[in-house]
Amino acid sequence: MHVAALNVPPAIIISPDPDRAKQALCRYVALMSLLDTLLKKHVVLVTGKGGTGKTTVCAALGLAAAARGLRTTLVETSGATRLAELFGLPPQVLAVRAIRPSLRVLTLTSEACVEDFVVKRVRFRSLYRLVFRNRVMGPFMDSVPGLPDLIQLGKVYDMQRESDDNGDPVHDLIIVDAPATGHGLTMLSSPETLMDMTLAGPLHANSKLVRDLFTDPANTALLLTSLPEALPLNETIDLFHALGPKQSLVAGCVLNRVLEVPFTSGLAWPLVAKHLEALSDPRIQEALHWTSLWLERTALQEQALESLSREIPRPIAIFPFIMHNYKDPESLETLGDRLDTLKWPPQASPAPRWMKS
Ligand SMILES: Nc1ncnc2c1ncn2[C@@H]1O[C@H](COP(=O)(O)OP(=O)(O)OP(=O)(O)O)[C@@H](O)[C@H]1O
Ligand SMILES: [Mg+2]
Repeated sequence: MHVAALNVPPAIIISPDPDRAKQALCRYVALMSLLDTLLKKHVVLVTGKGGTGKTTVCAALGLAAAARGLRTTLVETSGATRLAELFGLPPQVLAVRAIRPSLRVLTLTSEACVEDFVVKRVRFRSLYRLVFRNRVMGPFMDSVPGLPDLIQLGKVYDMQRESDDNGDPVHDLIIVDAPATGHGLTMLSSPETLMDMTLAGPLHANSKLVRDLFTDPANTALLLTSLPEALPLNETIDLFHALGPKQSLVAGCVLNRVLEVPFTSGLAWPLVAKHLEALSDPRIQEALHWTSLWLERTALQEQALESLSREIPRPIAIFPFIMHNYKDPESLETLGDRLDTLKWPPQASPAPRWMKS
């Protein structure tokens, strides 16, 4: 008896024939979009190289989740406030604020999370300031490796366990706009770092709880962001490899800011270009030049997509480059829908018509 198993999404298929087991598994997975997979989790951490679209992807995913009725909370870490600003809210730390009926945003800093934790338990803010923000403890809290990251993950852990008066979870889905690649990896490893440092005691035990939650693929997913350019692409691939056993958390990738291929109606560009070259009008020659550059660029993107799907065997959603105001909610909703379209395994797209001479 052969068993094929996959964590993204969770599936076990049992068959006497190993090839048939694998095929059945692929068919099962292909029925689910990346969005289906992400919406089955409780926490999605979005990470990638700086500037690749983490915040944009969080917003798009948040809108898509809320539109499907999930009580969704977007969490920004380390004091970042761009998500809140994207939805027209002024910066404010540690206040859950409504964007839409099912969509909220929260900005965290490690200091605010400690204060919140301590004040909830001892109920005296002045005592917190006396004990934790004095000249000895303040710098200590900031200098322990991984502690600020762990404290913020701990807050997300607490949020996941919050329930309302009916016993229903307050947050169906928490989307974390995590720090960029290297720091993102450190944040994800922070519970283990603290466990190694403490070996036993309450901090060790709490770190373990957080570690167990954030390494459970049934609960937590990682969504990687990248751009169709060499540097961010290689960084995404390196990040995936550096994740080691945590690779099972990676639900998929978003290839962002992809220029759309023109002439999808089937225009045979090489033939058209040949006719246009024969015309002497400089304006037509200039248009020809820019069109050719655009097409070259889209060919490079095809290669980027190919290497990403070769190196990271996960669903890849393609977010188009938005030319006009990418901040308007309609554009973000359009991007969110892209998470719902791509199936897995990624289909090797046929070469665009214009590439065939
Ligand atoms: N699909 C898109 N189309 C056009 N512009 C985009 C798109 N996605 C993101 N951008 C632009 O790229 C910039 C970076 O995007 P974003 O802030 O989401 O990235 P980030 O990874 O969160 O950056 P940081 O590492 O600085 O937090 C944004 O200011 C926005 O202008
Ligand atoms: Mg950002």
